Amino acid sequence: MEIKRNQKEAKQMGSTSPVVKYGIIGVGMMGREHLINLYHLQGHGVAVVAVADPHVPSQQLALDLAVSYNWSIQVFSGHKELLDSGLCDVVVVSTPNMTHYEILMDIINHPKPHHILVEKPLCTTVSHCKKVIEAARKRPAVLVHVGLEYRYMPPVAKLIDIVKGGKLGDVKMVAIREHRFPFLVKVNNWNRFNANSGGTLVEKCCHFFDLMRLFAGANPVRVMASGAIDVNHKDEVYDGKVPDIIDNAYVIVEFDNGCRGMLDLCMFAEGSKNEQEISVVGDIGKGEAFVPESVVRFSTRVAGRSGVQTIETSDDRIRYEGLHHGSSYLEHLNFLSAVRAKGVEAPAVDLHDGLISVAIGVAGQLSIEKGRFVTVEEVLNGHECNYSA
Ligand SMILES: NC(=O)c1ccc[n+]([C@@H]2O[C@H](COP(=O)([O-])OP(=O)(O)OC[C@H]3O[C@@H](n4cnc5c(N)ncnc54)[C@H](O)[C@@H]3O)[C@@H](O)[C@H]2O)c1
Repeated sequence: MEIKRNQKEAKQMGSTSPVVKYGIIGVGMMGREHLINLYHLQGHGVAVVAVADPHVPSQQLALDLAVSYNWSIQVFSGHKELLDSGLCDVVVVSTPNMTHYEILMDIINHPKPHHILVEKPLCTTVSHCKKVIEAARKRPAVLVHVGLEYRYMPPVAKLIDIVKGGKLGDVKMVAIREHRFPFLVKVNNWNRFNANSGGTLVEKCCHFFDLMRLFAGANPVRVMASGAIDVNHKDEVYDGKVPDIIDNAYVIVEFDNGCRGMLDLCMFAEGSKNEQEISVVGDIGKGEAFVPESVVRFSTRVAGRSGVQTIETSDDRIRYEGLHHGSSYLEHLNFLSAVRAKGVEAPAVDLHDGLISVAIGVAGQLSIEKGRFVTVEEVLNGHECNYSA
């Protein structure tokens, strides 16, 4: 009975209209970035028909964009009204991290099925991620894609190809350096506090833990981290509270195949040529990716330094570079393909990927707090960070 209903539900979703209709929940910086990306995907039969956001300036900016695209959109102040309107086939969740859980549960449990693209991090805690996974399991016709789009940045995608093609042999070490500018100012400054963002290692570094897992081709076992808030936001005060989000860290991740990962995060490093530098070393060779230089280098131990190949990377499919070097465009293209495949194709980045990337981040945050290795198992079994709101 359940299966019959699910098949019927899957058939109905997006099948009646050639245009896939999108709603965007949260139209701040990233929500509007999704709107612009979807505009550039118009040729693929998509339209944004509704947005939901309680913040009037965000609503207005989204509306201005839609008008400039000749899109007539409905504007709601809350996600429930958007869902109840029945206008959308797919919803993008791009609200502050601490709201993802409640909004996802409402979408998944809504009588009308909606496919979901949820921004990273899936949720701010492991227990919330697990509850979302549990709820989604009961609604298999609803596809959920997690917005870990760094995989699609052309140099990263090229390095993934090189690694998966076996050119480096068995991967032993993955080092990711992100050296960048501080966290931007957000609506109501939600990103200044661990209780809202999940902590820096969850909020932003889930991207890198996701990449490490991909390169390692294995499951994370334990995490050791050292980090602090040393430079940024120390002179800021919100409702009498000073931000508590770390701005630099080293994080070591051990995988169950013996591979080691290391993240070097610095958020007061505007003086960097590249924002991300990724190095993957296997028993045969070494590959590197540089963003935004968009360059990949690789060679083998046998060919040595003189054999290093430098590849300029790009992806002809990208129609809009946006804030993330075209990766959000490719993320949408991929998810749209899964939506159109009506259940035959799974989302490329799924809820399990979302959960594990959060779990490694939580383990890192806990490791900093406790001053010891934290196993991923203990985090998956309920050991969470205890942030005061
Ligand atoms: N994938 C990436 O690389 C990337 C980059 C930036 C942000 N993000 C993620 O996107 C999300 C949004 O971040 P942002 O930078 O756009 O923040 P933002 O503060 O610029 O925008 C958030 C918007 O959500 C709205 N909002 C708050 N509560 C809401 C609710 N309950 N329902 C509907 N709208 C609500 C706010 O009013 C605001 O307009 C976060 O999860 C963030 O981690 C991802």
